[in-house]
Amino acid sequence: MRLLIVGRLSGELVTASKIALNRGASVTHADGIDQGLAALRAKGGDLVMVDVGLDIRRLVQALSDERIRTPVVACGIASDARAAVAAIQAGAKEYIPLPPDPEMIAAVLEAVAADTRSFVWRDPSMERVVRLAEQVARSEASVLITGESGTGKEVLARHVHAKSNRAGRPFVSVNCAAIPEALLESELFGHEKGAFTGAIARRIGRFEEANGGTLLLDEISEMDVRLQSKLLRALQERVIDRVGGAAPVKVDIRVLATSNRNLAEEVKKGTFREDLFYRLNVVHLRLPPLRERLADILELAAHFSRKYAELNGLPLRPLAREAQALVARNPWRGNVRELENTIHRAVLLAQGPEIGPEAILSPEGEALAAPPASGPVERAASAAEAATRGLVGRTVADVERDLILDTLDHCLGNRTHAARILGISIRTLRNKLNEYVEAGVQVAEPGGVRAVAAYG
Ligand SMILES: Nc1ncnc2c1ncn2[C@@H]1O[C@H](COP(=O)(O)OP(=O)(O)OP(=O)(O)O)[C@@H](O)[C@H]1O
Ligand SMILES: [Mg+2]
Repeated sequence: MRLLIVGRLSGELVTASKIALNRGASVTHADGIDQGLAALRAKGGDLVMVDVGLDIRRLVQALSDERIRTPVVACGIASDARAAVAAIQAGAKEYIPLPPDPEMIAAVLEAVAADTRSFVWRDPSMERVVRLAEQVARSEASVLITGESGTGKEVLARHVHAKSNRAGRPFVSVNCAAIPEALLESELFGHEKGAFTGAIARRIGRFEEANGGTLLLDEISEMDVRLQSKLLRALQERVIDRVGGAAPVKVDIRVLATSNRNLAEEVKKGTFREDLFYRLNVVHLRLPPLRERLADILELAAHFSRKYAELNGLPLRPLAREAQALVARNPWRGNVRELENTIHRAVLLAQGPEIGPEAILSPEGEALAAPPASGPVERAASAAEAATRGLVGRTVADVERDLILDTLDHCLGNRTHAARILGISIRTLRNKLNEYVEAGVQVAEPGGVRAVAAYG
């Protein structure tokens, strides 16, 4: 955990920093916003604690402009409720009252690190994957992790890092699909001041940020071929070139990569470099879809019901037997992510001593589709009929738009997952969504669905 404290170190911030150090964080200090930004550009960080008296809005805005995703928490005097509200409105994730309470600091550090720890499995098919992952974790080998969207590729990557010799060093993840093509190079390799319009200061890239640790290249199949060659050089020669930089920079990193496409197929199609594929694919961990991990479904459901009861301060309710049966036979096309969202809703909706089947609902509040009684032929025929009945008389563009927006709602705004279901690349999806937004059509934000009015 790399913590950056921004603000004049008064006695109370010194105490906070000591508490964090005792909890195993590595702490850096910056006097003001600009120094803080410089430190983040130069070294990266996992959490920023900033004095509430400073311009938090400017800090949060600058981080967002520069695509630095480190969360910011504010700290200030306990009794100053107005400052606390203002800090949250300015974009801070939390307000830590001073003098610092060791428990509070520990809880915040914990929350930031929390994602990395909960990795649950029980099914024999997962057992095999996890055993292989742990065997290779201590080596320096590149690992390619594949699996459908939502199967837990990132969770597994963090597990590999946690079991590796680099566990105490940074784990840095770059989502190659989420960053616009033009910016990905500087995101990965960094840039010098003035390298392009908007390069207001030198910024180190994710490779340098991960130095000594592990770099996860998430959704690597979305990287364009030109950048793939630069990546290959970085992996082979262990040096990178900052954009606009004069001299190569040495880096020491372990690389993990994920993809929800079949990379071997992409190589055949010519969209992924074969030499890079072999570089990354030293070990291949293939995550089975959740529907093939029956024992995991119930184990994960129990885990999520505990997690969300705790998070929401609700009593812990176990899943009733009928609810378990319902969950176990659902196809979970969105895998663990869909199960997690479903159980989260169920925890919020359930009443009584257990989570009953009536609380296990789709995002629209409907019962999960029961397996149809008729045979596969009738099912396919009636589905096709239902699907085309509403389509005649409409343009392909209209139908495509509805399909895309409905799918995005279904995935709670998750672009990656929606693109996967639609069978298009995330870039194509993003371009379409931009078109719709420009045309004034409402589009689900990540984590949400469109307002009901949009369906009219
Ligand atoms: N084995 C697991 N134990 C606990 N939580 C899990 C597990 N697998 C997945 N999750 C949870 O499910 C969600 C999706 O996991 P993750 O982001 O790792 O999937 P992914 O395969 O990377 O998905 P995508 O392809 O969409 O990026 C996360 O919220 C994660 O915490
Ligand atoms: Mg992922």
